[in-house]
Amino acid sequence: MRSAAADVACQTGRMTALDAVSIIRAKRDGGELSDEQIDWVVDGFTRGIVADEQMSALAMAILLRGMNRREIARWTAAMIGSGSRMNFTDLPRPTVDKHSTGGVGDKITLPLAPLVAACGAAVPQLSGRGLGHTGGTLDKLESIPGWQADITVPRMREILADPEIGAVICAAGADLAPADKRLYALRDVTGTVESIPLIASSIMSKKIAEGTAALVLDVKVGTGAFLKTLDEARELAAVMVELGRDAGVKTVALLTAMDTPLGRTAGNALEVAESVEVLAGGGPADVVELTLALAREMVAQAGLHVDPAEVLADGRAMDHWRTMIQAQGGDPDAPLPTARHTETVRAESAGVLTRLDAMGVGLAAWRLGAGRARQGEQVQAGAGVEMHAKPGDSVAIGQPLFTLHTDTPDAFAGALEALDGAVGIELTPESKPGELVLGRID
Ligand code: URA
Repeated sequence: MRSAAADVACQTGRMTALDAVSIIRAKRDGGELSDEQIDWVVDGFTRGIVADEQMSALAMAILLRGMNRREIARWTAAMIGSGSRMNFTDLPRPTVDKHSTGGVGDKITLPLAPLVAACGAAVPQLSGRGLGHTGGTLDKLESIPGWQADITVPRMREILADPEIGAVICAAGADLAPADKRLYALRDVTGTVESIPLIASSIMSKKIAEGTAALVLDVKVGTGAFLKTLDEARELAAVMVELGRDAGVKTVALLTAMDTPLGRTAGNALEVAESVEVLAGGGPADVVELTLALAREMVAQAGLHVDPAEVLADGRAMDHWRTMIQAQGGDPDAPLPTARHTETVRAESAGVLTRLDAMGVGLAAWRLGAGRARQGEQVQAGAGVEMHAKPGDSVAIGQPLFTLHTDTPDAFAGALEALDGAVGIELTPESKPGELVLGRID
C-alpha cells in the first residue's frame, strides 16, 4: 500500500523523485536492486525523469556497495534497451571489435582497427571520449584536421563493406545505449568510474548494441588502470566475458599491464603521431607488441587465417589507416596540431629507470589539457606528456625525462606535481620490466 505521503507526492508529480530516492537508499544501504527497480531507474534516467544528481548518487552507491551478477546483467540489458541495436550480419565480412577498459597512453585502437580490417575483418569500433585520467580514442582522432566522430549508420555500413577501408571508429549514435552515454559523462566528473558493475555494463551495453559478432577485451590492471589488482581485473574480465557470451557475442579478454604508460606519449595529437609510426613499421616496442597480440585474438575470433605481423610490415595496415581517416573527412597528410608551450623535466640522478607511474603521467597529461575536468569541456589537441625514457632505460643526470606540452602554461605546476615521485631511478636495479600480457580469459 502506498503511504499518504507517496499519494500526495504522486498527485503533485513528485512520485518519480521519491522512487529514485528509495532506489538510491536501497543500494546505499547495501540492498539488492530488483529487476523492476533497475529497469525503472535506467529508463527514467534515459527519459530525464531521474535527475543527473540522483543518478550520480546511485552510481556512487553502486561503486561503494557493488552489484551481484544478476543485477549487472539486468543493468546491462536495461542500458541496451535504452536505445536501439545495430545489426551487421549481412556484411560480406566477419565483424570483430576490441574494447579497452582504459589506460594511459593507450592508443592501441588507432593502429589496431585498420590492421584488423586489412586482415579481412570488418571492425565497427564505437569509441568514447576521455574518462578521468585516461585518454579517449575520439579525442585523439579529433586532433586530425577534418576528422569527424559522428557518422550515420548507412555511412558506417558503406565503410565497413568497403574492402579498401573495412574499419570505422566513431561516436556511438544518439540512439545506441543512450543511458550509458549520459551515465559515462556523469561518472567522469563524480568519481564513480572505478566500479566493476559500472565499467562492465558500460562497455558491454555499447558492444552488444553495436552488433559486433566477436569482441576482444583489453582489461587493464595496474596503477594507471581503473582496477589496480589482478584479482579485480580478472573479476571484471569474467563478468564481461559472461555478459558477451549470454548475448551471443564471441568474447575473449586479455589482462594487460598498466603500471607504466603504453608507448612514449600520452595526449591526443601526440598519440596519433605515435600510432602512425607503428603503422609505418616503427614505434615503441610495447605498442607494437600489444597491437599484434590483440590483432591475433581478433583475427582468430573472426575465423580468419592471416598473420597480422605480415600485414603490418608490408604496409597494408597503413593503407587502411589512410582510407579510414579519409572516409571520416580527415586528412592523413595534414600536420597535427602542436601545443604552444613546452617544458622539459630532467633526471636528478643517474641509473636505470625502474618505475614510470602511469597514474602520475595520466594525471599530468589530463592537467595539461589533454582531458576534461567538466562535462562537455574542450580538450587541447596538442597537450600531453612525451616520455623520453621507459623502464629498463639507462639515464644520465640532467637527461630529459619528459617534455610537457600545453596551450595553457598555468597548467605546468599541476602537471609537475602529478609527476613528482612518478619516476624511480636505481643504480643497480633488482628486477626487470614485467610482462605486458598478464592473462587471458575466455
Ligand atoms: N570504458 C567504457 O566504455 N566505460 C567505462 O566505464 C570504462 C571504460
